[in-house]
Amino acid sequence: MTAAGLREALTQERYPRSSAYDADWVVSAPMGPHPLWSVEALMQVMRVEPGMRVLDLGCGAALTSIFLAREYDVRVWAADLWIDPTDNWQRIQDAGVSDRVHPLRAEAHELPFAHGFFGAIVSVGAYHYFGTEARYVAYCTDFLRPGGQLGVIVPGMRRDPGPELPQYLAERWTPDFFTWLDPAWWRRHWERTGLITVDVADLVPDGWADWLRWLEACELVGKGFEPDAKMLREDGGELLGLVRLLARRTA
Ligand SMILES: C[S@@+](CC[C@H](N)C(=O)[O-])C[C@H]1O[C@@H](n2cnc3c(N)ncnc32)[C@H](O)[C@@H]1O
Repeated sequence: MTAAGLREALTQERYPRSSAYDADWVVSAPMGPHPLWSVEALMQVMRVEPGMRVLDLGCGAALTSIFLAREYDVRVWAADLWIDPTDNWQRIQDAGVSDRVHPLRAEAHELPFAHGFFGAIVSVGAYHYFGTEARYVAYCTDFLRPGGQLGVIVPGMRRDPGPELPQYLAERWTPDFFTWLDPAWWRRHWERTGLITVDVADLVPDGWADWLRWLEACELVGKGFEPDAKMLREDGGELLGLVRLLARRTA
């Protein structure tokens, strides 16, 4: 594996901002689909203003938080449960954004913020861990100012696969997969609260291919996950993908 091979695998025309980042840094802590491609796909439909307060909910290794601060000049609260905020603080300092990114350990159901504090909440590859519960969106949008945005990328399905799963899905299936829902499900789940207006509920165009390409790139440095890569290859975009959601808190 050459550095050039990894760089080539992680360079994509439709993600120009992410493609400019050091490939070794990007693959240093893989946790789900490519975090920067995911957040860049979200930002293709979402607008944030310089200086805005943004919560990165379930930020993992805070790569998305660093990216948001550097690319969009927002102030980010990088909140995560499993990843030590001290490790994230080191990454944040190394990236030169310690004035704009604030790491903390936080449980998504016990967020230590004032209501109305954020202009936006962004969540990449994490919201499905806690956000399928009916009351959660009401809880978390309390932390948004009126008109504030909630933007989410999660693994999901094009449609409900029904009870007869294709073999490649059946052999990988665990209860977690029940949280891989389709855009129409998420739209209804959010809209029925009457608390937010849903502007976007779709699949990231070719998100499944991005996800596969990312796993194959991670494999080049021994950090891939072949069972997921095999599942995505066999599915070929028929069911699996990345769900993109954007909503605004109503006044
Ligand atoms: C698959 S990782 C994605 C991390 C990161 N956003 C990325 O894209 O690389 C999911 C993250 O969700 C976080 N998470 C899961 N349940 C959570 C909860 N109840 N409260 C806060 N974070 C949670 C985990 O700590 C983990 O870092």
